[in-house]
Amino acid sequence: MLATTSQLVLRNINDLNGRVLLVEPQADSLANELLHLAPQLNLSCYTTDAAVAACWTHSAVTLYTELSPQFTQTFDTVVLFYPKSKEQLGFTLAQLSSAISPATQVFVVGDNKGGIKSLASHAEKLALNANKLDNAKHCLWFSLFGDFTALPQISASQFNIESDGNTLKLCSLPGVFNHGKLDIGTALLLDNLPPISSGKVLDFACGCGVIGAVLKRRHPAIELYSSDISVLAVTSTELTLAANQLNGTVLLADGLPAQPKQFDYIVTNPPFHTGIKTDYSIVESFIQGSAKRLSAQGSLTLVANSHLAYLELLQQAFKRVEVVAKANGFIVYRAYP
Ligand SMILES: C[S@@+](CC[C@H](N)C(=O)[O-])C[C@H]1O[C@@H](n2cnc3c(N)ncnc32)[C@H](O)[C@@H]1O
Repeated sequence: MLATTSQLVLRNINDLNGRVLLVEPQADSLANELLHLAPQLNLSCYTTDAAVAACWTHSAVTLYTELSPQFTQTFDTVVLFYPKSKEQLGFTLAQLSSAISPATQVFVVGDNKGGIKSLASHAEKLALNANKLDNAKHCLWFSLFGDFTALPQISASQFNIESDGNTLKLCSLPGVFNHGKLDIGTALLLDNLPPISSGKVLDFACGCGVIGAVLKRRHPAIELYSSDISVLAVTSTELTLAANQLNGTVLLADGLPAQPKQFDYIVTNPPFHTGIKTDYSIVESFIQGSAKRLSAQGSLTLVANSHLAYLELLQQAFKRVEVVAKANGFIVYRAYP
């Protein structure tokens, strides 16, 4: 299945030439389609998403997955998939400084629902120009031009929260969930954390690492694991733990990390989106998986928007489920295996 943005890339395949870098594409079969239709193209992919990396790893494409990748050569064509969060555009373009030469043609593709319509004004703020070239499948195809070398490198922003009478420093890179602020649902979860004193604790889908950092600060004896699908989130969590002199193992993983095999507690504000689409499948398999991976005395504590039907999912997978708190449109559940 091809995402509609990928379909628009294929529709504009004649714009692609020579060495092509696809930046933050979808986890779909675009690479194979491109290689089939235009075998002369030399494809590379840059992604910070572990699921996309796993998907693109199977195709004959050079893959870059680390933050601030060192590209050994510049590209003839760069195709950037418009990011979900606006601040990520300037950040990602600045990451590409070693990939873009004055001769590189840069294109941006995005879904109308993802905000691509405002690309021209957004580009202007970055002293770049965007020119709309195509419009189909509710998506837009732009060329982007200007001086990419002048883009400032953006570092993580830091914000503070009060936790147990202390200030906790949180570091967040552009593109991380709720960048630079504490989410209301997460705040409710932090007010209703499980009574833990020791054991292996997983902050699943950790974002900037706030939940794990609060837990580790409160209970220094726990063995903290924090995991997320995004390199931006994992890096932010490492920065957050370091900024507060806290120890923890931070793992890049799509879904539950493979190791350790068992946790005593899992605490999470889980994802229900893939890109801009609502996607319950992630949480469904996470809930089923966590019931199997928790120790007998353990628990899963999860916050969710109250419109999401998680109670039934939890009851199907766990022996006992409690509603621990309800406020501001969010519910905190605790489930026991
Ligand atoms: C609602 S945010 C919560 C972030 C953080 N825990 C907080 O409360 O601020 C959900 C997180 O899930 C991550 N995510 C999305 N899909 C995932 C998957 N398949 N596996 C692991 N993490 C995923 C996102 O990158 C995002 O950081």
